[in-house]
Amino acid sequence: MEPLLRVEHMTVCYNGKPAVEDISFELVQGQTLGIVGESGSGKSTIVKAIMGSLGNSGEVTGGDIYYKGQNIIDVRPKEQRKLYGSEIAMIFQDCRSAFCPIRKIGAQIYESLTEHEKKLKKREAYARAGALMKKIGMVDYERVLNSYPFELSGGMNQRVGICTAMLLNPSLLLADEPTSALDVTVQKQVLEEMKLMRREFQTAMILVSHNIGVIGAMADKVLVIKNGKAVDYGSSDEVLHHSDNAYTKCLMESVPHLRREPDLGQWREWNV
Ligand SMILES: Nc1ncnc2c1ncn2[C@@H]1O[C@H](COP(=O)(O)OP(=O)(O)O)[C@@H](O)[C@H]1O
Ligand SMILES: [Mg+2]
Repeated sequence: MEPLLRVEHMTVCYNGKPAVEDISFELVQGQTLGIVGESGSGKSTIVKAIMGSLGNSGEVTGGDIYYKGQNIIDVRPKEQRKLYGSEIAMIFQDCRSAFCPIRKIGAQIYESLTEHEKKLKKREAYARAGALMKKIGMVDYERVLNSYPFELSGGMNQRVGICTAMLLNPSLLLADEPTSALDVTVQKQVLEEMKLMRREFQTAMILVSHNIGVIGAMADKVLVIKNGKAVDYGSSDEVLHHSDNAYTKCLMESVPHLRREPDLGQWREWNV
């Protein structure tokens, strides 16, 4: 089966200087890849390269990125608009600042949906958003849709950001530290909601975190990066439990609360 996403020997430079080098991984539908590494190791750069949002100073200078078998490094602007949003969507560390501060949440969701579905009625967009919010336990979705971003908590803004991305029904969701700014309890809740949506929509996901506990709780595969280079890559089980790599082991040892539930085969706790 052709993987949904295949990154082959990718090198990304800012102003000609490499930030990540020779990165390769692949992802099939519904799978979650966790990318873990210290701050500045190049995690966001990998995600931005896939999203085509490296900015003026950044450029993919080597390797290829295949999405559904098609090389997407040089897609034209028109195809790009179709690809990003409806096929590949992104959620940010701070969704509140990604929203427009002076427009209500509902209006912004409506706008984001009509970019891909021109004829969508406002009422239908609100109904869809409300239904998804309700499904993940946001009972007060009407209030949320009628609020400005500053009227909602950080956790609530993240939930809305995640819902907005999922409403576009992307095949691939890029999540760059989506819960790092949240309290531990809210973080757990938001991660649970992401799992629920991932199941519901069969979305593949790249989850970036400096927190290996979060990665352990969510990912099927793990890529460990250090100074822009891959130091470890494999199934979560291989990387998190059976790695010979000294750096990975060191990352694991820095998470004292991480333990495996023998019955469930899942990670149950993480520190922040
Ligand atoms: N726009 C940019 N211009 C120049 N250098 C950048 C830019 N963005 C990131 N970098 C550099 O690239 C490296 C990787 O950064 P980043 O991908 O943001 O790491 P992470 O997300 O793991 O914290 C860092 O050395 C950072 O300083
Ligand atoms: Mg980053």
